[in-house]
Amino acid sequence: VSLQIDRVTDAEGAAGYHQIEAETVPVDHPGLIGDSLDDVVGMVEHRLPSFDIALYVAREGDEVVAHGFFGLPMVENQHMCHVYVAVALDARRRGIGTELANFLLAEGRREGRSLLVSYVLGPLDGRAPGDALAAKLGAKPALEQVRRQLVVSQLDSAELASRVEALATGPAAAYELITWQDRCPDEIVDGAAQIVPLVQSDSPQGELEMEDEVWDAPRFREFEEFQVARGRSGLSAAAIERSSGRLVAMTNLALPSSDHRVVDQQGTAVERAHRGHRLGLLIKGGNLLNLLTHFPDAATIQTYNAAANEHMIAVNEALGFRAVERETAYQLAL
Ligand SMILES: CC(C)(COP(=O)(O)OP(=O)(O)OC[C@H]1O[C@@H](n2cnc3c(N)ncnc32)[C@H](O)[C@@H]1OP(=O)(O)O)[C@@H](O)C(=O)NCCC(=O)NCCS
Repeated sequence: VSLQIDRVTDAEGAAGYHQIEAETVPVDHPGLIGDSLDDVVGMVEHRLPSFDIALYVAREGDEVVAHGFFGLPMVENQHMCHVYVAVALDARRRGIGTELANFLLAEGRREGRSLLVSYVLGPLDGRAPGDALAAKLGAKPALEQVRRQLVVSQLDSAELASRVEALATGPAAAYELITWQDRCPDEIVDGAAQIVPLVQSDSPQGELEMEDEVWDAPRFREFEEFQVARGRSGLSAAAIERSSGRLVAMTNLALPSSDHRVVDQQGTAVERAHRGHRLGLLIKGGNLLNLLTHFPDAATIQTYNAAANEHMIAVNEALGFRAVERETAYQLAL
């Protein structure tokens, strides 16, 4: 049977895409549940100007057997495309992954992109089918990361609250801890936007050929609106320098509004000049308390760090995160 590959443009396509997500992710990556249907529909219906997303489903006859993600950075990194494929469990080892990946490679070339990037999750001390597919396509590992997970029920919230309080009145006393949900307060949105690119520029990037980003308030608002349009809730914490009123550190969590089980840690960054005051632990601890208040039914938090990112890992381990999977970023010249 030949493979029919179509771009997702409607509810039926989104449902097909989501079916593969829901079937494969929990089996391939225990502890994860994948994007919700709201997320998928939101990606199809709402465009993020700085990052263009196209979703694909592959069918054999009437049956959806695979899906593909194709992302184009539209501001910086216009040499790059982001690709991800997943194949239904009972349709594997028949060449479908290779065929869909080759289709997306051709899309990347057609869009004038010269480098493909793909993030593959696998066991901490072994290889996954995704590594085999990447190797077959000639992609090279560019960055090793580790997925860590925090089991929320194992958190002692009273102990965490007193640790955060001790930091706020001790080493971080020159800073005010603030938290918000979904929309950053207007007074600090410029500062929030400036912190975002540090997550990438100030963390180890291995061999990834990635340009630093530049964010401003409109780009930050655009991203917030896209998250809400995708049915995702965002929780943030920041440190404000009391003397200047400037935002100097920020961390963000995101989760589907319809299903609170699996929460994603997004970026965390502290401005270089303000490191060494335990702001990383302060804002991450503060945001965990924020999560417990707004979403007491959250089960786990997932975070991804470069294996070489000692300071961030130390903060995460101190909060109770433990390594569960490896994530390799592959690069392929197109
Ligand atoms: C990775 C994945 C997409 C492969 O799909 P597939 O349809 O089984 O892939 P193919 O049949 O085209 O196989 C691709 C190559 O990988 C190898 N491979 C695939 N699964 C393998 C496994 N379990 N063990 C060893 N090799 C494997 C195959 O041998 C094949 O090369 P070859 O047949 O030329 O020797 C599928 O396993 C999957 O959906 N995994 C979860 C999502 C993921 O990790 N995606 C990768 C990110 S892009």
